Amino acid sequence: ALRGSLAPESMKRSQSLNHQLSPQASYKVAILGANGGIGQPLSLLIKMSPLVSALHLYDIANVKGVAADLSHCNTPSQVLDFTGPAEMGNSLKGVNVVVIPAGVPRKPGMTRDDLFNINAGIVKTLVEAVADNCPDAFIQIISNPVNSTVPIAAEVLKKKGVYNPKKLFGVTTLDVVRANTFVAQKKNLKLIDVDVPVIGGHAGITILPLLSKTKPSVSFTDQEVEELTVRIQNAGTEVVEAKAGAGSATLSMAYAAARFVESSLRALDGDGDVYECSFIDSDLTDLPFFASRVKLGKNGVEEVISSDFHGLTEYEQKGLEALKPELKASIEKGITFANKQS
Ligand code: NAI
Repeated sequence: ALRGSLAPESMKRSQSLNHQLSPQASYKVAILGANGGIGQPLSLLIKMSPLVSALHLYDIANVKGVAADLSHCNTPSQVLDFTGPAEMGNSLKGVNVVVIPAGVPRKPGMTRDDLFNINAGIVKTLVEAVADNCPDAFIQIISNPVNSTVPIAAEVLKKKGVYNPKKLFGVTTLDVVRANTFVAQKKNLKLIDVDVPVIGGHAGITILPLLSKTKPSVSFTDQEVEELTVRIQNAGTEVVEAKAGAGSATLSMAYAAARFVESSLRALDGDGDVYECSFIDSDLTDLPFFASRVKLGKNGVEEVISSDFHGLTEYEQKGLEALKPELKASIEKGITFANKQS
């Protein structure tokens, strides 16, 4: 099952010790942009979760076929389809988790910020509907540029009077997944054991892997640190270039988002030992939003893990200072957009 295959080893151990599966699936998940390159495989992976009772698939087109296809899988969740703005509200009623991979992806030569003009408006419209129909849900934003779309979502929710900073997440799990993979390859470690926290944001140099905090503890030469950091920061572009115009990461992104959704569902279900990195409303630095490790609970972010910040290497400290101006500008761009368009 998904639960077993996506959870890192540390999580699995804690599950078997102090957490029992609910007797039956009980959570409802909505995917907005479900017909897309990410949306389709993500829907499939979530359809495999034993914790999900209903999967609501929303897109502006062609989602009926995806839903019909998935509905034949003999896993517990019921699959419902919703097409276009007229059905958007109904896709959100009663859901516990909303995942948003709607919007255009990058092509070679583009930065994530180049997507802003199209995706900012899409995220704003979708989050307005979330605020009106399921303000209590966990909201998980995949649409790029995450560094700006999460602040946009926060402003929309504030305007609607329903902002809960503990339940709004920018999905940065793919950065962690990539860091774990690349570190395990480079150091010949058993992949399932490796866990690297990645902090900051989700674009270029704002992605800062804390290699010194890798678990299990492992030492790197300065050259390895430089190579791994740069590769993790540019991994999205590696995929964009390999796809040569056909889009950006979709399958690894779906895998990463499914892990984040599954972690959220386990937290909602009472597992007291769930940790993930995410880009959230945060007091950890002087920036209003920042990605770090967080403990997830029934009410969303239960604790921001500040201990990862203790004893950073000089390289990491420099990276942290270097990313702040860019991340600050992206956050402000999102806030300005959300407030201009009201
Ligand atoms: P895609 O173009 O294959 O799919 C996007 C889907 O969104 C399409 O089905 C489209 O119909 C739908 N859509 C467009 N406007 C919509 C609206 N107003 N309401 C509902 N659905 C709408 O794109 P792909 O590859 O799935 O990427 C989606 C987004 O995810 C992009 O913004 C991309 O940059 C981002 N992304 C984020 C990553 C992360 O780590 N957070 C990693 C990879 C991609």
